[in-house]
Amino acid sequence: MAIELRSGVKYGSFLSLAVVLVAYWFRSPDGSVLDERLDVLLSSLLRAERKVGMSDVSRPRVAIGFGGCVDIIVDGVTLLNKIGLKATDQPLHHDYIENAEQLAQSFAYFFSPGAASERFVMNDTLFSELVEASRELPGNRWSIGGNAPVMASRMALEGCDVLLGGSFSIDFTDILSQRITVAGNTVDEPDIHLILEYPTGATWGPYTSRRANRYIVHSDDHNPYLDSMEQFQEKLNGFNPDLLVVGGLQMMDNFPFKKGEREALLGRLAQMLSSASPQTAVHFEMASFVDESLLSDLLEFVLPHADSLGMNEQELPNLLSLFRGSNLTVLSDPNPRVATVLDQIRELYRLVNQRHREAGTGRPLTRLHVHTLAFQAIIVKRGSQWKNTMSATAKASLTANRHVCGSPDIDLSKARLIMDESFSISRREGSQRIPLQESRPVSCWDEDGYEICVAPVLVCTEVYQTAGGGDNISAAGLVLQI
Ligand SMILES: *[C@@H]1O[C@H](CO)[C@@H](O)[C@H](O)[C@H]1NC(C)=O
Ligand SMILES: *[C@@H]1O[C@H](CO)[C@@H](O)[C@H](O)[C@H]1NC(C)=O
Ligand SMILES: *[C@@H]1O[C@H](CO)[C@@H](O)[C@H](O)[C@H]1NC(C)=O
Repeated sequence: MAIELRSGVKYGSFLSLAVVLVAYWFRSPDGSVLDERLDVLLSSLLRAERKVGMSDVSRPRVAIGFGGCVDIIVDGVTLLNKIGLKATDQPLHHDYIENAEQLAQSFAYFFSPGAASERFVMNDTLFSELVEASRELPGNRWSIGGNAPVMASRMALEGCDVLLGGSFSIDFTDILSQRITVAGNTVDEPDIHLILEYPTGATWGPYTSRRANRYIVHSDDHNPYLDSMEQFQEKLNGFNPDLLVVGGLQMMDNFPFKKGEREALLGRLAQMLSSASPQTAVHFEMASFVDESLLSDLLEFVLPHADSLGMNEQELPNLLSLFRGSNLTVLSDPNPRVATVLDQIRELYRLVNQRHREAGTGRPLTRLHVHTLAFQAIIVKRGSQWKNTMSATAKASLTANRHVCGSPDIDLSKARLIMDESFSISRREGSQRIPLQESRPVSCWDEDGYEICVAPVLVCTEVYQTAGGGDNISAAGLVLQI
């Protein structure tokens, strides 16, 4: 593997600054060295982000489907205590939730490692009880939710014109940005998602969470049917987007469809994607899937039409396990090493493209973005349409902190670097190590036919919200690349 290391930010003055920093390092008796390092890291990331101003890009047009919901965000443990749900002594994975005991077991399963998860509640009574209890919980918050509206809002905020496919209530549509045009039905009762957030170190019975994250439950009536697809498709051609994003398909996971219904929906989606103009790039945002037949369908109907994929550290091994023909991985290390993730990225990139070549139709995969707590990694085919990969990786990293801390300004007293001092680019023996340099934090290099960029995240330590993080991060990365 030939590696050509390139710097993200090339500023000679940083070399001298680095020398000063090293000198300072040896003198400082306290944590101020660390503060200094974070300071340099932050300003370097900000500079990398600013390298591509949106003024360089003439207001991109982005179409995003499907669905959306109203999120009720609560502290997970407080909610479970309020409804009197005792901590189970049996953490257990369930594909969907039928009763309170399964909820306790499923929550416990993901809570200790701190892994993001999302499950369908098959029991309407239970779901209504949870929603009612959440409404009354002090400190609850309501917000726009669902992959598509969150990505749409972020894109609009970044200056894009957006077409959003989803069926919403009038109130919901009213609070969306002016730059967003909605294609879909108007519904009286929007779907509600319940977001059980928890900070690092939260305890529930004998369990302690190793990192901040959320456990989501939903019981949608509209979203699983992609019921805005027709209106969305009608407007799509006239809208002529630079980018078409598909997300929210996890709402189909374990949903009790009639026989053949889901396949018919995905078949229509495949048709829509395959008729997209070659000038329109297609991105698919992965999510938490446990229904193997659904994930197989996505492999058949959606992935072949995507130029780009976005996912987190759980979703990457989940999708890979399907390719490998093994049982679906539903829980993976929530803090994976860079080398591990990069090897998984290479493998997925290779497998998806191999499938593409064998099929002889659809689009090759030319971009893959993986967002983790500690770092961002983007792989892009050399010579493809995707621009500014280095800046996009920096922006994704900054967005992670901004989102989780709930503030556009990054406060270093609420940030921590958890990525190691250097990382190996593969777990293969003898692989090159790349030092993390604060003044050149985004490392980009070329491998066989593609470029990889990795940026550390200034991990937010005072968590405001984790839900929606992946969507904000993915959208922020995409916006600089189209
Ligand atoms: C559904 O939830 C309710 C309320 O928690 C419970 O009483 C009922 O037994 C559950 N139904 C099933 C089929 O588990
Ligand atoms: C895969 O799942 C099946 C059915 O749940 C189980 O019997 C089998 O042991 C699993 N295999 C592995 C390798 O985990
Ligand atoms: C993430 O997206 C949501 C929905 O658009 C928005 O309310 C929130 O402010 C975003 N987070 C950041 C950091 O911009």
